[in-house]
Amino acid sequence: MRAAQVQKFGGPEVLIPVTLPDPVPGPGEVLIDVAYIDTIFVETQLRTGWGQEFFPTTPPYVPGGGVSGVVAALGPEVPEEWLGRRVTSFVQDGYASRAVAAVSALTVVPDALDLLAAAALVHDGVTAAGLLELTAVAPGDRVLILGASGGMGTLLVQLTHSRGALVVGLARGAEKLALVRELGADATVDVSASDWPERARAALGGAADVVLDGVGGQLGATALSLAADGGRFSAHGAPSGGFATLDTEEVSRRGIKLFGIADVQFPQADLLRLTSYALQEAVAGRLRVVIGEVFELARAGDAHAAIARRGVVGKILLKV
Ligand SMILES: NC(=O)c1ccc[n+]([C@@H]2O[C@H](COP(=O)([O-])OP(=O)(O)OC[C@H]3O[C@@H](n4cnc5c(N)ncnc54)[C@H](OP(=O)(O)O)[C@@H]3O)[C@@H](O)[C@H]2O)c1
Repeated sequence: MRAAQVQKFGGPEVLIPVTLPDPVPGPGEVLIDVAYIDTIFVETQLRTGWGQEFFPTTPPYVPGGGVSGVVAALGPEVPEEWLGRRVTSFVQDGYASRAVAAVSALTVVPDALDLLAAAALVHDGVTAAGLLELTAVAPGDRVLILGASGGMGTLLVQLTHSRGALVVGLARGAEKLALVRELGADATVDVSASDWPERARAALGGAADVVLDGVGGQLGATALSLAADGGRFSAHGAPSGGFATLDTEEVSRRGIKLFGIADVQFPQADLLRLTSYALQEAVAGRLRVVIGEVFELARAGDAHAAIARRGVVGKILLKV
């Protein structure tokens, strides 16, 4: 099979096309002919050697974990009816033309949904839907979303809006802000402006009941001052270089419920439930996947470079 492999920790150039043996499905597993592969920001960070404490990785390795495709072969004990089904799954070694997954980890893609959109929802749709459950976003809540223009941010904006909450989205640049607004944000604030915290506070009408921080670093730390006492704060994002470092004494004194990256590592049963939910929301037209650019698998390194440049509006995916 064709794959893209990280040869050693480094820049996008260490991610190169290789040919590897096809994986063989074991008992209860299937072989997937992969159509589209999800890319997420953290994969670009892991490629540099960042984040070993959360996600230990040793080169050479094939990155990626979310794919969509068609079941091409069955391992022992798998019912014949799975052959030819369109599916999504979390897999090991995702940047490849073929993948193996347990039947118990597959989600059938509804006929009305294309495999490109399905691949885009494997990570982002699941985490976004899971985050809203975790932070119990309810109608009337004021919700501040950092990284609102990103793969997961664009989904969070839509799901939060459809729950009847007030959405204030933070992003960078007119084009991304316009997209966030179009997706249902009540207000947007450009984080390039030095007075963004004051603007965000005004848009929130005081403070946020829920802060969803998909950016981290200084932006995430500053956002703590915008969280209401007794509110919820999820510090799950680190594209700025690190998760937000929050003053735990302040968090506890103000009665803020804090969530982190460990809270969005969902057990298998939740993953399947949240995947189905995200796919069904997309079929129903309530969740729009914004695709920015699709790269050939052999150009995975270029895809990583594009993610790091932050110039593409919408999600970047790989195709086989
Ligand atoms: N996707 C998932 O399922 C998942 C699961 C768990 C955790 N997370 C975490 O959630 C975060 C967002 O993930 P994603 O997949 O949605 O990523 P993404 O699509 O690449 O979006 C990242 C967002 O962060 C902003 N950003 C990037 N670099 C930045 C920087 N240096 N300073 C400030 N803002 C920056 C970008 O906004 P602008 O370019 O507009 O500034 C963009 O909106 C990541 O940290 C990821 O690890 C994601």
